[in-house]
Amino acid sequence: MCGIFGYIGTENAVKTCIEGLKQLAYRGYDSSGIAGIRKGQLVSIKAEGKIVNLEKKIQLKDLELAPIIGHTRWATHGIASENNAHPHIDSKETLAVVHNGIIDNFDSLRTFLKQKNISFRSETDTEVISQLIAYHYEGNLTVALNKTLSLLKGSFAIAIIHKDFPNQIIAASRESPLAIGYNHTKKERLISSDPNAFLGRNLNVFYLRNDEIAVINRQKIEVLDAHLSPIIKKTEKFNSTLTFPTKEGYEHFMLKEIFEQPNTIQKAMLGHYSENFGTAIFDNLNFSNQELMATRHILIIACGTSWHAGSIGASMLEDMARISTQAEIASELRFKNPIISDNTLVIAISQSGETADTIAAVREAKAKGAKILGIVNAQNTTLTRESDSCLFLKAGPEISVCSTKAFTSQITVLALFALYMARLRHMSKEDGKAFLDELKKIPDVVTEVLQRHEQIQSLAKKYSTFHDFFFLGRRYMHTTSLEAALKLKEISYLNANGYPAGEIKHGPIALISPKLPVIAFCANHQTYDKILGNLMEVKSRGAPILAFAPYGAHEVQEIADDVFWLPPTIDELATYPSSIAAQLLAYYIAKEKGTEIDQPRNLAKSVTVQ
Ligand code: F6R
Repeated sequence: MCGIFGYIGTENAVKTCIEGLKQLAYRGYDSSGIAGIRKGQLVSIKAEGKIVNLEKKIQLKDLELAPIIGHTRWATHGIASENNAHPHIDSKETLAVVHNGIIDNFDSLRTFLKQKNISFRSETDTEVISQLIAYHYEGNLTVALNKTLSLLKGSFAIAIIHKDFPNQIIAASRESPLAIGYNHTKKERLISSDPNAFLGRNLNVFYLRNDEIAVINRQKIEVLDAHLSPIIKKTEKFNSTLTFPTKEGYEHFMLKEIFEQPNTIQKAMLGHYSENFGTAIFDNLNFSNQELMATRHILIIACGTSWHAGSIGASMLEDMARISTQAEIASELRFKNPIISDNTLVIAISQSGETADTIAAVREAKAKGAKILGIVNAQNTTLTRESDSCLFLKAGPEISVCSTKAFTSQITVLALFALYMARLRHMSKEDGKAFLDELKKIPDVVTEVLQRHEQIQSLAKKYSTFHDFFFLGRRYMHTTSLEAALKLKEISYLNANGYPAGEIKHGPIALISPKLPVIAFCANHQTYDKILGNLMEVKSRGAPILAFAPYGAHEVQEIADDVFWLPPTIDELATYPSSIAAQLLAYYIAKEKGTEIDQPRNLAKSVTVQ
């Protein structure tokens, strides 16, 4: 987790670094800090909490630092305090380190250093790196860093400045992305955990990996391998005309992104279907139809909301293409020794393309010979680089930590992929066209739900007085209920349990009481009668019920206390209207609670630790 930014160039380095860190705040916002060299001395400023706190501290000083390194933190080792904020300086105050990742053996290294009478100021694993480099330093920083890297276990991207080298940043990486960008004409060098933080610049970019070290100064960039031999890195042109999105009048990015969905779903579809042939089109799919037709098993790997999208995709692939498909949580799969045969296709889904557990599971699958199809929103990411082929969501940057538009775009890409696989097999052109007709209606279906947001706002007022919730659904609505519960808990900090409605009688029903409302997702036609029975069971035990049901489902009205009516669609696509309604419910409940909706406590947009 965490974001690293570094700059050498002609601009105001402090300002550039702060701007860079703001682009990286999605990787964590527990604290932030910068360090640079001024008149031969290390200068560091750190602040607890969001980057604006750091900015306020910096504004009090008229600061010029060059070179500069900066960091935005998601706490792993040690609480979110100024003391634990990066950069971490060694006890002799010679060097400063910013770090992204986790040092697994930090405890034994710390004990070793303490035995050498080196004292520690923080609880972090990172401080071990700064102290170790200082301990090994005898005038050659690269050698000291290399010795340190050989002792570290875990994953890291690091950037270092040392007061003996006032014009230089030195960086290294293992299993954690670190991009280095340069522009010789402007003599600027940038370092970042994510090249998308190089907004608005034209640069040549390369990535460090496998314990490579980059020694960066105004004149040149030298890259060394783990044996300290110079190597030539392949660079890519990075041309960014992007600017950071604004809220465009919405109170929060989350609300803006919820309302963007008719558009983003449309974008995910655009150019990707043929009405004449009733199928999907993927120009950039690097798998031949023969390879896809030979697929006997699909393994989907993802985390969080992306896993929910993957689970819905798995149901579509099984129902429509009749291919056995399993959606696995990446952090579990990688320790399971997954069964991958010649005809297994692995699909990795990630909005950010940087989720460490997903990347680790992808690497495990690749080691077993699997081909990887990535479904990703952010371009230029680790997952896009490591996949054999990628389908992009084209949803635009998702700034709110709570994922909304990426989820519905993921479902859209998966629906099209399921259609493609089905048409390659047994699905008729007519059935393909009928499915496409339903899919094309979805942007309007979503718009209709959005237009009635005020109704959901008043329901949110009523239900925000409760502390615990059950979210129930069956089949497609089961995963929808999991995703809906996740939305509520992550932004309102209320306890919400998503559950298959048919399962609660096997234990969880013991929790039902008038103090525990049930949010019921009733839009799956196949299981409609069954969920009515489940709702009767909870009603007779006093649970207040808010149901999301398609127009015409009048039986629900007889049972539920409140009903929000949804525009109709087929079961495979019923997640769209239900999820949009659930996103709005979570948003308005969080608003009632006064929580920090776009950046909820303890979270980060991109989870880059395993
Ligand atoms: C929830 C949420 C997370 C992410 C998860 C995976 O709103 O955003 O659960 O879905 O951390 O992230 P990506 O899709 O970037 O791999």
